[in-house]
Amino acid sequence: MPQAIAQIDEYLSQAPVLPVLAVDDVPQAIALVTALAEAGLLVVEITLRTAAAVPAIAAIRAQLPHVIVSAGTVLTLADLHAVQDAGAQLAALLLAPAAGSRVLDACAAPGGKTGHLLEMAAESPPLELLAIDSDRRRLTRVDDNLTRLGLRANLKTADASKLDEWWDGKPFDRILLDVPCSGSGVTRRHPDIKWIRRETDIFALARQQARLLSVLWQCLNIGGQLLYATCSVFRAENQDIIAQFLGKTPGARQINIDQSISTGREPDAIPILSDGQLLPNHIHDGFFYALLEKTG
Ligand SMILES: C[S@@+](CC[C@H](N)C(=O)[O-])C[C@H]1O[C@@H](n2cnc3c(N)ncnc32)[C@H](O)[C@@H]1O
Repeated sequence: MPQAIAQIDEYLSQAPVLPVLAVDDVPQAIALVTALAEAGLLVVEITLRTAAAVPAIAAIRAQLPHVIVSAGTVLTLADLHAVQDAGAQLAALLLAPAAGSRVLDACAAPGGKTGHLLEMAAESPPLELLAIDSDRRRLTRVDDNLTRLGLRANLKTADASKLDEWWDGKPFDRILLDVPCSGSGVTRRHPDIKWIRRETDIFALARQQARLLSVLWQCLNIGGQLLYATCSVFRAENQDIIAQFLGKTPGARQINIDQSISTGREPDAIPILSDGQLLPNHIHDGFFYALLEKTG
C-alpha cells in the first residue's frame, strides 16, 4: 500500500497532461508539444487531421515517444473544441442519457461535463438539461462555454440542497452530482491544493457531499440513475459516502461499473477500479464515480 501511495503521489507531482491535441502536420505537432512542455503541460495524444498525414505518424512517434499518435478527421475550428481530462470524460459516458430525457447537472460550473453530456446525446429530441451551481460567477462560465460550443441548457444559480429554491417537483431521469471536493486527484493541474487543504476540510466536505446526495436523491425518477462524482482519491469523500448512503436508503442500488469503458482511442480502455476509484496515472487524473439507480 505505501508503494501505491508513493506512485499516486509521483503522478500527482508531474506536469498535467493534455489528453488530445489535433494538428495538421509534423512540424506543427513538434512545435506545439515543445511549447506546451515548456509551459508545464504534457500531451498524451495527437490526432493528425488529414489522411495525407498518416505517413507522418512514424516521424512523430520517433521524435515524441511519450505521445500517442493517431490519424482522424477533426473539426478545424478551435472554438468548437472542449478540452477535458480523459478521466473527467467518463462522466458523460457513464451517465449516457437517452435522447429527450430530463437531466439535472447539480454542481455544473464551469461546465466541462455539461457540454460533454449535451455533445454525447442524440440531437432529436434534445436533452432537457438543467445545470445549476451555487456560485453565480462560476455559472457564467457554463453559459460562456455552452454558447461557444453552440449547445443549449437551462441554467440556474441555486444551492442544489435547497429544493424549494429551484425544483419544480418534476423528477429527473438522470442526475450528475459532481460534488465540491478536496480536489486531491487533480493536484498536478491545481498544485495550490496541496498547500491550502487541511485534513479537517475533508470532514466538512464529506458532510456537504452526503447532504447533497441524500437531498438530490428525492429528485430522481424511479428507474432513473444518479452519477456521484468527485476528483478526489480519498475514501472519506468517495466510497464511505456511498456506503453510508446505501446503508440508509432502501430503493437505492449501485450499478457495477467494473468494466473498462472504451474511449475509442489508444489505449482503447481506461480501467476503473472495482470500487469506482480511478487513480491518477500518465493518461488521466484521479476521479471517483458511483452510478446509483432508484429501484423504488
Ligand atoms: C467539482 S466542481 C463541478 C465541476 C463541473 N461539474 C465540471 O465538470 O466542469 C463543483 C461545483 O459545485 C458548486 N457547488 C458547491 N456547493 C454547491 C451547492 N450546494 N449547490 C450547487 N452547486 C454547488 C461549486 O460552485 C463548483 O462549481
